[in-house]
Amino acid sequence: MNDLFLYEGKAKILYRTTDPTVLRVVYKDDATAFNAQKRSTIAGKGELNCAIATYILQYLDTQGIPTHFLSQSSSREMLVQAVTIVPLEVVVRNLAAGSLCQRTGIPLGTELARPLVEFFYKNDVLGDPLFTEDHIDLLHLATPEQVQSLKRLAIDINHHLQTLFAPCRLTLVDFKLEFGLNASGQLLLADEVSPDTCRLWDQVTADPQERILDKDRFRHDLGKVADAYAEVLKRLQESGKVKGL
Ligand code: TMP
Ligand code: ASP
Repeated sequence: MNDLFLYEGKAKILYRTTDPTVLRVVYKDDATAFNAQKRSTIAGKGELNCAIATYILQYLDTQGIPTHFLSQSSSREMLVQAVTIVPLEVVVRNLAAGSLCQRTGIPLGTELARPLVEFFYKNDVLGDPLFTEDHIDLLHLATPEQVQSLKRLAIDINHHLQTLFAPCRLTLVDFKLEFGLNASGQLLLADEVSPDTCRLWDQVTADPQERILDKDRFRHDLGKVADAYAEVLKRLQESGKVKGL
């Protein structure tokens, strides 16, 4: 299968398939943080994230969000539509956490009056800097119309994810999305949506560390990373929002 290798990222490997419009994504157990300065392997993470991303992308599909997801092809693999990735990380925040607290001084956990959308330039060498719409225009990363579509999609996705996670008693603090253009120029939600790319807090526990059910457990050495991801998957499955998963 090596001849079909396309690209290896921090948490996934992409392979071509015999169909040029379809790629195979393999989810790895590798975890990185802080622009890969921190690295480890978390047994079971690949399968858990593949299952969670499959669940979430299928759910979003039922809600009319165009995604690259086609099917789950094995316990840690999915088939997706080939897209040209827009080199932006689109972050949506409902509560203050992470880099927003560091940049603004807003206390951790503060509810934002309305969801905040931020763009970061996908560039490891530069450390994925925060970009304004003018920066995006300056570097021709996306047209102003595409930026408006990205914002609208991000806000819609936030609404659907909150509807999905609420009955799971999970608070969606913030998350990161990536989008791509397919051969027809349509913007599709790409990459993954998983505890690697979202902050999810358990509403059942008040303890500020115990409640963390996402990659912050790895970033801040809180332990029980795979257990937290497994809990997210279990609650999604119990919610019954996607039939057959
Ligand atoms: P931040 O607070 O570090 O900017 O992260 C915001 C959200 O984006 C959080 O849910 C984690 C996610 N994220 C990624 O998925 N990949 C990244 O490289 C970074 C920095 C954040
Ligand atoms: N995924 C990113 C990295 O390792 C950072 C993060 O998720 O915190 O570079």
